[in-house]
Amino acid sequence: MKISVYHTPESTPDNCIPECAVVIDVLRATTTIVTALNNGAKSVKAFSDIDLLLAESDLLSSESRLRLGERGGKKVESCDLGNSPLDCSSDIVKDKQLFISTTNGTRSLQRVESAKTVIAGAIINYGAVVNYLKEHKPATLWLLGSGWEGGYSLEDTVCAGAIASELVDFNDTDNIGNDEVVSAIALYRQWKDNLLDLFSLSSHGQRLLKLNLDDDLKYCAQKNIVSSVPMQTEKGVLTI
Ligand code: MLT
Repeated sequence: MKISVYHTPESTPDNCIPECAVVIDVLRATTTIVTALNNGAKSVKAFSDIDLLLAESDLLSSESRLRLGERGGKKVESCDLGNSPLDCSSDIVKDKQLFISTTNGTRSLQRVESAKTVIAGAIINYGAVVNYLKEHKPATLWLLGSGWEGGYSLEDTVCAGAIASELVDFNDTDNIGNDEVVSAIALYRQWKDNLLDLFSLSSHGQRLLKLNLDDDLKYCAQKNIVSSVPMQTEKGVLTI
């Protein structure tokens, strides 16, 4: 397995796609997707454009769908929910088809949608993602963070490091696809027992704290409370 870490969709190499991509947006898109599917949502379809999301979800009855929209950490008015994983309890999402658009996470999902395998990863399910990867051993693997508007984010990189630290063997440099892998592992080893503190230092963590979303940060920082591995089953659509 040749593993590469990319901090954002913009930093991935042109004209190149891995066999398997784990898309990571710990605060909060992939944490929300993992939570919703684990709590019984039928599927989650990701859109980078809100108008497209509204048009496509209009084809379903309002009872069978839920629209999740976030920009700048806040709920988009025309949607039912924002992007909080805490809103995705089973009484709200069970048996619904979800349509989601967020500032950064949905763009990462789009960047790798033509990969053979696309997985949604977060701190809440990274152990299950590692188990899947150990079992299936893709030849090329990208751990793709979402960042914030093209920039690096601590929370996505530490999650990439959590996954990479269980897969990379430092005695076999062939499995290290780029330097970002080694630095992500170092970040994870430094902060693994204080993820909430790290998230509180991160720029998007600070943005969420200013919106009084402290409980979202706490939820997103919990390791392996979910054992589901959401995967793309058709372009842009994730299920478990
Ligand atoms: C994003 O896609 O940038 C995020 O998930 C933002 C958020 O809702 O916290």
